[in-house]
Amino acid sequence: MIELSTIDSTNIYAMAQIKEGLAKSGSCFRADFQTQGKGQHGRVWESVTGQNLLCTYILEIKQLDSDKNWVPEHQIGFSAAIALGIRSFFDTMTNGDTKIKRPNDIYWRDRKAGGILIENIVRGSEWTWAVVGIGININQTQFSTDAPNPVSLKQITGRDWDIRLLQEALTKSLNTSLEDWQNNGDEKTMQAFDQHIIEISK
Ligand code: BTN
Repeated sequence: MIELSTIDSTNIYAMAQIKEGLAKSGSCFRADFQTQGKGQHGRVWESVTGQNLLCTYILEIKQLDSDKNWVPEHQIGFSAAIALGIRSFFDTMTNGDTKIKRPNDIYWRDRKAGGILIENIVRGSEWTWAVVGIGININQTQFSTDAPNPVSLKQITGRDWDIRLLQEALTKSLNTSLEDWQNNGDEKTMQAFDQHIIEISK
């Protein structure tokens, strides 16, 4: 766990560490504030300083299983496993009602509580690294007007949360979910993912 106060983006930082050969698989970079937080589709991910979970995990894929042929086709099962791990984490904190909106937004009822931005590195036909950026609304209660129907853990539960403790719980939940994916495979993971989908057009 590497904690950063202000950074452009934990995903940009993690990617640079990999490119420079400095990255250690399993590391996680957590920031209090990002000046260029990246969302999906080139959007900006905004967050008030110190109030939310902003982090990026990096994984060297062959370290999961060095005998397996890690073709990029496995990314879909991996992405589903990450979404399932975050969903389960958030669901525990909120006592239910946490859903996934395709491809991998985390929703509580019909409101967005978190997002995931996975950037993969592929060399030739081999999937080598995954850079898993996660933003979850925790203690923030006021959002910019263009945020799509946001909600935070504090708004749901009525209390403040310790970001570091939540980060530890998130890591555990992701580990469990990735183990399930490795044991059960892509197809079963996608089936589990399908059971938590919310269909909304926002
Ligand atoms: C989305 O648009 O829903 C995905 C948002 C992902 C945001 C997180 S915050 C931590 C990490 N660093 C980034 O720059 N983006 C991801």
